[in-house]
Amino acid sequence: MTNFLSLADVTNLDALIQSGLDAKANPFADQHLGKNKTIGLIFFNSSLRTRLSTQKAAQNLGMNVITLNVGAGQDSWGLEMEEGVIMNGDKAEHIREAAAVIGRYCDVIAIRAFAELKDRDKDYREQVMHQFAKYAGVPIVNLESATRHPLQSLADCITIQEAQLKSSLIPARPKVVLTWLPHFKPLPQAVANSFCEWMNVRANAGHVEFVVTHPEGYELAPEFVGNARVIYNQDEAFAGADFIYGKNWSSYTHYGQVLTQDPSWAVTMADLRLTNNGKFMHCLPVRRNLKVADEVLDSPQSLVIEQAANREWSAQAVLKEILKTM
Ligand code: CP
Repeated sequence: MTNFLSLADVTNLDALIQSGLDAKANPFADQHLGKNKTIGLIFFNSSLRTRLSTQKAAQNLGMNVITLNVGAGQDSWGLEMEEGVIMNGDKAEHIREAAAVIGRYCDVIAIRAFAELKDRDKDYREQVMHQFAKYAGVPIVNLESATRHPLQSLADCITIQEAQLKSSLIPARPKVVLTWLPHFKPLPQAVANSFCEWMNVRANAGHVEFVVTHPEGYELAPEFVGNARVIYNQDEAFAGADFIYGKNWSSYTHYGQVLTQDPSWAVTMADLRLTNNGKFMHCLPVRRNLKVADEVLDSPQSLVIEQAANREWSAQAVLKEILKTM
């Protein structure tokens, strides 16, 4: 693996999930791989889990870690991504120099840059990731981009597989449901897109049955929703489900808009009772009692803490693959 921008960079998903589980069982087995190697963690947006889990994973592999918050008023200059422009605005440094310079200090660069939710075509072009990949000269890792959050999706796959290993009550081909949750703020589609992308591959391989449920108007981009079954009635979608994956996203069609805040889409224990003792998953952070009831998050059916813990092992599995090529 030379870059990890999306699922397309993964050649063997089963092996990568197993590598995450192996790292969890034996975190320091590959410390030699990262010795005298440095990873730069570049954040255009806030983070708790991604920042800490990726740093921890890199350290488990023996790497040195540098973190930089980008943007005016942050650690570094605002970065201009457009080519050929007169830089007379608030961006003091161009990505051509910035990426090339960071690439001289770091052996791997990992970047978080969310969708701006103003211009759909611009967001879906993934300009920040592609500009870093073009000019850095070292492997690039996606820490959540405009359209995807692949380290989260890998952690989600690890979490589902781990839950199956722990419980004989979960079937070999579980029903996994991605449900939209209400929120008053417009949030990116990246986590939902990515989860669909990865679950569709798991479904095509016969590992899961995958269903997506959301109010009308919240259809995800066709290239992400793929062949997933879309059901507009949440109760119907939840029937017999083994895993409920909650996430809010803003509209793709009416780009970046909040079309409804219907509280009936929030997940409660009454909703979970429609499932097959279904486990609840969410990437976090989550706003309690707006998107999910306390009673769900605090119940034994919630996997959210273990899911967040597995971010360390998904990052470690990916960094290991990249370090093996150096
Ligand atoms: N799930 C996730 O990416 O969390 P952070 O935004 O805190 O990194």
